[in-house]
Amino acid sequence: MQLTRKGLWSGIIREYRDFLPAISDEAVTTLLEGNTPLVETTNLKHIFGNLRLLLKFEGLNPTGSFKDRGMTMAVSKAREEGSRAVICASTGNTSASAAAYAAKAGMKAYVLVPDGGIALGKLSQAMMHGAMVLQIKGNFDDALNIVKEVTKSYPVKMVNSINPFRIEGQKTGAFEVCEHLGFAPTFHFLPVGNAGNITAYWRGYREYHKQGIISNLPKMMGFQAEGAAPIVLGHPVADPHTVATAIKIGNPASWEGALKAKEESGGVIDLVTDEEIIEAYRLLASMEGVFCEPASAASVAGAIKMKKEGILNDGDTVVCTLTGHGLKDPDTAMNSSPKPTKVPADLKKILKVMGF
Ligand code: F0G
Repeated sequence: MQLTRKGLWSGIIREYRDFLPAISDEAVTTLLEGNTPLVETTNLKHIFGNLRLLLKFEGLNPTGSFKDRGMTMAVSKAREEGSRAVICASTGNTSASAAAYAAKAGMKAYVLVPDGGIALGKLSQAMMHGAMVLQIKGNFDDALNIVKEVTKSYPVKMVNSINPFRIEGQKTGAFEVCEHLGFAPTFHFLPVGNAGNITAYWRGYREYHKQGIISNLPKMMGFQAEGAAPIVLGHPVADPHTVATAIKIGNPASWEGALKAKEESGGVIDLVTDEEIIEAYRLLASMEGVFCEPASAASVAGAIKMKKEGILNDGDTVVCTLTGHGLKDPDTAMNSSPKPTKVPADLKKILKVMGF
């Protein structure tokens, strides 16, 4: 048998060159992000009946979240422009991704995160990749305001999703869903925090539709956490709170983009409670073998809610984006699971506990 190299993935910038702003090849900074699986659920019929529910598992990107799609674009562009440093505010994943891509590009990364408000895995990533981690006594919205001020006057490139190249990169998630299915889904569910990703997916679907690659468009279904649901409430939330720290945001930067996605697609922006988020989080891990982080499960919690309300029907194809990997947040995982059983190193006792 011959050893052949076939179908090797080259990262979203090179794979989707025709659909993305041009970037010179020397500046391309990639960790081969994208090409994530669309996992078909098989054990949730008791909830979803005969509709197809698929999970776009973005936790399998290089730094464990969907942010890598946007970060490869933002950092490559910054590098092309000659920037030496990038900066972002983050609930964790953006900082992990910015730190990794900056390291790959040989650039400095500054990340501002809420003190105590981000999951352990994410913090450890930013630290390991050599970013300067600034923990601020404030929330994500405070951090973002400071980042905006810094970038007005100092030579550091903002890589939050206000940076238009971030949204451009993230739209490739929608392209992949269409390619995997051969068509666009009936509904696409996403967690909503700063609202960049729902904006990006909707752009991706619209572009493929305009090019005639797909003939239908999905309804965009965005879900915020109950304690951090400014778009649902119609006003900013000064002190957001939720177990899903990734989406603990009170004043989303891409608010308008989320509303546009909802209105143009005939979808919804709604909320789910922390209890519903944790229930979906555990369900996916224990019944589908897919371990996502709590915020990611807001998409599936939203789908469960919409199924109960009769919005989803048999025959529909429903895609939920699982935005980040469960290993990002070991504390919430441990707190949401039964404790391990402590046993002596004794065969008889172990067999007894095992029920044999
Ligand atoms: N899910 C996860 C795991 C996230 O990290 C984020 C955002 C979202 C969903 C929401 O996506 O902001 O595009 O609506 N995390 C940002 C961060 C805010 O700093 O890592 P969005």
